[in-house]
Amino acid sequence: MIAVLTGAGISAESGLSTFRDSGGLWEGHDVMEVASPQGWAKNPELVNNFYNLRRRALQRVKPNAAHMYLASLERNYNVQIITQNVDNLHEQAGSSSVLHLHGELLKVRSTRYPDLVYDWTDDLALTDLCERGHSLRPDIVWFGEDVPLIPVAASIISKSRVLLIIGTSLQVYPAAGLMHCANPDASVIYIDPQPAQTQVSSRSLHVIPKKATESLEDLEDLLAEILNP
Ligand code: OAD
Repeated sequence: MIAVLTGAGISAESGLSTFRDSGGLWEGHDVMEVASPQGWAKNPELVNNFYNLRRRALQRVKPNAAHMYLASLERNYNVQIITQNVDNLHEQAGSSSVLHLHGELLKVRSTRYPDLVYDWTDDLALTDLCERGHSLRPDIVWFGEDVPLIPVAASIISKSRVLLIIGTSLQVYPAAGLMHCANPDASVIYIDPQPAQTQVSSRSLHVIPKKATESLEDLEDLLAEILNP
């Protein structure tokens, strides 16, 4: 099995901005202002509007060659994508198994009953309600909130022959800690033009310091070497 952990960098060449490449601001906002329960409590209008704009921006972009390549790997391998991204570009590219650690832009949920989750492609209004009469919020995991899919992701990674990490600064926990779940016999491949310093439990770490779409030939060669020696 190939586990793939992706971050904002894989969507950068599709036109979605990353979080930490623009002076700590996300589309002009302090991340804590728009991605924390405190920010939501203080100014729900601003936060809601922010995600409405992100949702609209998502309708204007397309998966890039890196998303497409990962989807094409399914022809030969069992590929499990674990993404920190809230866009749906992996799904648009055709990947069939995508775990969204930090939620999804195209979903909203009840503020009172978190299991009431709805597909949502339009703008959300603060007056929109769940079927039980409570307000809705973006289905995004904000800072300080639980990341309920971490154990599922950890289990996938621990069973994988290859862990491929693409376009993440590995600064946000617990997602960043997932790299330590790789089996010592697995190979870890990390693609990022400005890779973070990493220490992994695996004995074999390959860093490709390139943009996602520019790394695909190197990646193909490396995967062939590892999986078909
Ligand atoms: P970051 O913005 O922290 O990191 C993006 C990474 O992508 C950086 O290491 C860049 O060097 C790299 N990068 C930039 N362009 C690239 C390209 N063309 N190809 C490959 N890599 C490229 O984003 P994340 O690590 O995803 O959480 O951030 C993790 C979490 O922090 C996000 O999921 C989000 C954020 O706050 C929530 O919203 C809860």
